[in-house]
Amino acid sequence: MSGHIPFLKVPKGQVLFREGETGQHAYAIESGLVQICVERGGKQVAIAKLGKGEIFGEMAIISEGKRSATAVALKDCRLLKLEAQQFHHRMEAMDPVMRMIVDVMLTRLRSTLEQLETLPEAPRQHEQPPAELVDEALARLRLEHELQDAVLDEQFSPFYQPIVCLATGKLAGFEALVRWDHPERGLVAPDSFIPAAEESDLIMAITRNVLLRVSKDLPEMRVRCLKNIENVKLVYVSLNVTARDLADAQFADKIEAHFVEHGMTTDALRLEVTESSLMSNLDEIDLMLGRLRRLGVGIAIDDFGTGYSSMNHLAQLPISTLKIDRSFVAALNDGEQNRKIVNAILQLASELEIPVIAEGIETQEDARYLARQDCAFGQGYYYGKPMTCEAALELIEGWNAEPVLPQLVQSLSA
Ligand code: CMP
Ligand code: MG
Repeated sequence: MSGHIPFLKVPKGQVLFREGETGQHAYAIESGLVQICVERGGKQVAIAKLGKGEIFGEMAIISEGKRSATAVALKDCRLLKLEAQQFHHRMEAMDPVMRMIVDVMLTRLRSTLEQLETLPEAPRQHEQPPAELVDEALARLRLEHELQDAVLDEQFSPFYQPIVCLATGKLAGFEALVRWDHPERGLVAPDSFIPAAEESDLIMAITRNVLLRVSKDLPEMRVRCLKNIENVKLVYVSLNVTARDLADAQFADKIEAHFVEHGMTTDALRLEVTESSLMSNLDEIDLMLGRLRRLGVGIAIDDFGTGYSSMNHLAQLPISTLKIDRSFVAALNDGEQNRKIVNAILQLASELEIPVIAEGIETQEDARYLARQDCAFGQGYYYGKPMTCEAALELIEGWNAEPVLPQLVQSLSA
């Protein structure tokens, strides 16, 4: 099953579908030539010839109607099959005005096709759509196919990055960051596939895959914590979820069922939601986060400071942690202004009594500065890069808590 893309090899002469049938797929032509015909006066009349980079069969998928024409391979073809689902998600997400326009265009095209009395003498060879447009669209659709296979093949796994209590230097938890172990390309970073996964429902399956792996890894992590309890707290794992996951009305029930099935305590898992994904459907998201909080699951706002959430919005949400985006931490040494922003975020969180995790800590100096400003937790290359579960287990056992501000720890314990 490794990363196969469902190219169809279609021999010359094969009929792909007939006019009037219902349609399940559209097709993109990777190579070859396809003739589109309609029946007039009992005869098949060719109306178009389509070549490399062109798409056909999209009309019956988009408007869920019958095939407006018959498609026959004129040469041996290699076709990329495009699932109805890959279109439907996009239609649902589309701006209502654009959706209406697509609908009007399709209806007009269908009726023009039916009313055509004089058909072209020779089938039309269309002008090719711009190559970049086609390449980009097909690359995206191919990626979605690959992701579908990857979900079934469980190619997604968590990498764990340590989260540390700044004052004591104790290990507090790990953020689970998803990696795609692609059979040919090796490890793929989330940026290159999460947007495509979010646009389809695949993100939900990926989240499920990762949660399952986290649940398998966590018990051993906690056993190792007990062996080094002086330096390590009983760690939690913080899992990134998207607005799409939270939009599933059953999400909290699924998480609860998962806890029961895997014998997990709710303090072992936290969820991270980016600030920008909280911007729409506020009421629904608020409700879902509230249900998760009542289950005992901590909720962190991720990438805080980059998503323009209003203060009102922030105070309203049932969140338990705030993560300052790494871009602010990276800029700490670039001038007074950036420090003021970080300090303001810390002050705001303190007023709301929400503990803060600063992301992107790269130096001891960053850690010291943030600890002095009462930032509770830190994460970043200074403490550890995202790593495999095996490496995380070793890290836990060998962790040696080094308070960044020893005098602060003394005063805390005094
Ligand atoms: P669909 O109606 O699903 O099945 C027949 C396909 O033929 C249709 O989608 C289009 O992809 C294609 N088609 C219909 N009319 C034309 C046309 N005038 N020129 C090119 N392709 C067409
Ligand atoms: Mg995160």
